[in-house]
Amino acid sequence: MTLTRRSLLRAAALGGAGLAVGARTAAARPLVGAPGADQTLRALAARSGRAFGVSAQLGPMLSDPAYATLVTTQARVFTPQNELKWVALRPTPTEHYSFGAADTAVRVARDAGLAVRGHCFTWANSNPSWFKDNLTRSNAARVLTDHITTVTTRYRGQIASWDVVNEAYGPVAMTPTPWLALLGPRYVDLAFRATREADPSAQLVLNEHQLECSPARQRAVLRALEGLLDRGVPVHALGTQAHLSVRQFERHFNPRGYRAFLREVGDLGLDVLVTELDVTDHDVAGSPAHRDRAVARVYRTFLDTALAEPAVTQVITWDLADKHSWLRHDPRFEREDGEPLRPLPYDDAFTAKSARHEMAAAFLRAPRR
Ligand code: XIL
Repeated sequence: MTLTRRSLLRAAALGGAGLAVGARTAAARPLVGAPGADQTLRALAARSGRAFGVSAQLGPMLSDPAYATLVTTQARVFTPQNELKWVALRPTPTEHYSFGAADTAVRVARDAGLAVRGHCFTWANSNPSWFKDNLTRSNAARVLTDHITTVTTRYRGQIASWDVVNEAYGPVAMTPTPWLALLGPRYVDLAFRATREADPSAQLVLNEHQLECSPARQRAVLRALEGLLDRGVPVHALGTQAHLSVRQFERHFNPRGYRAFLREVGDLGLDVLVTELDVTDHDVAGSPAHRDRAVARVYRTFLDTALAEPAVTQVITWDLADKHSWLRHDPRFEREDGEPLRPLPYDDAFTAKSARHEMAAAFLRAPRR
C-alpha cells in the first residue's frame, strides 16, 4: 500500500517534471534536434511515396549559390517559376521564341538530377503586351496551338509534367483570360489536346488557385474536371496551388471538406499535386518568432490534411527561403509594419524554421500512399 502510494507519488512527480521539461523543450527546442531535421525534405516525402519539389526564380538560382544548393539538395522536383510563361518566351508578336532563360532553368535543374515541371501555357497574367493588338478570334487557336506544340516538343524528355492551364475556373464563372475572351471555354480542351499531341507521355495538369479555403471553388473545379473527362480531354492531375495566408486559413479552412474534395478528385482517377505552397504572414501582427509559429501551424494543418489522401503525389513550395519569396515583391501582401514576410520553411540565412520542422513532421506522419 505504502509502496503503491509512494510509487504513485513518484510517478506523479516524474510525470509533472516530465511535462514541464517537455513543454520547455518544445518551445525552445533547436531545430537540429527536431524529427526529420537531419533528413532532406525529398527523403522525408519519399517515405510516404511522394515527391517534394520547389519552384524557384532563375535569378537567385544563378546568383546565390547557397540558395541553389539548398534547393537542389532538398527538392526532387523543380518548377521554373517564370521562364516558361508567355511573357518570357514570346517577347515579340512574331514566331520568334526566346528560349535562353528557360533552357538555363531546365538545365540547372536537370544537372542537379531534379525532375522538371513546366508552368504554364494559359494564364490571365504574365502575358506579353502584344496580345492586346495581335491576338484575334481568327488566329488565337492557331497561335496557342503553335506555342504549345513548339514549347512542349522542345522539352520532350526533359519536362515530364505540365501545368497546361493555370487558374481557369472561379466559383461562379471561368476566370477572364485572353484565351477565354477569344476562344470561349473550349480553350481549355484545346490546350490539353495540343499538349498531349506534342508529348503523349507527359503528365497534364489543371493548376487551380484558392481552392483550399473555398468550397464553392472546389465544387466548380470538380464540375469542370468531370466535364473535361466526359469530353475525353487528356487531363491527368489537378494542381492545388496552396498560396495560403494565416488569417484566412484559420478562419476558413475546413479540413474535412478539403479532404473530401481531394478524395473526389482522386475518385475521378486523377492525381493531385500541391503545386505552389507558401503561407503569407501579411495579415498576422507580432514578432517574427510569433509569426513563424503561426505560419508553421498552417503548414502542419494543411499538410496533415492533404497527405492523408493517397491522391496527393507531390508537394511543391513556391520558393524555399523567405529571402527569395516572390510574395515580398507583391504589393498585395505588404505588411502594415513594413516588416519582411516570412512565408517559407527557411529564413533569410537559409536556416530551417518551425515551418520546415512541421513539414518534416507531417511527412513523417503521412500514411504511405
Ligand atoms: C508569380 C511569380 O512567383 C512571380 O515571380 C511573378 O512576378 C508573377 O508570377 N500563381 C501562379 C504563379 O500560378 O505563376 C505565380 O508566380 C504566383 C501565383
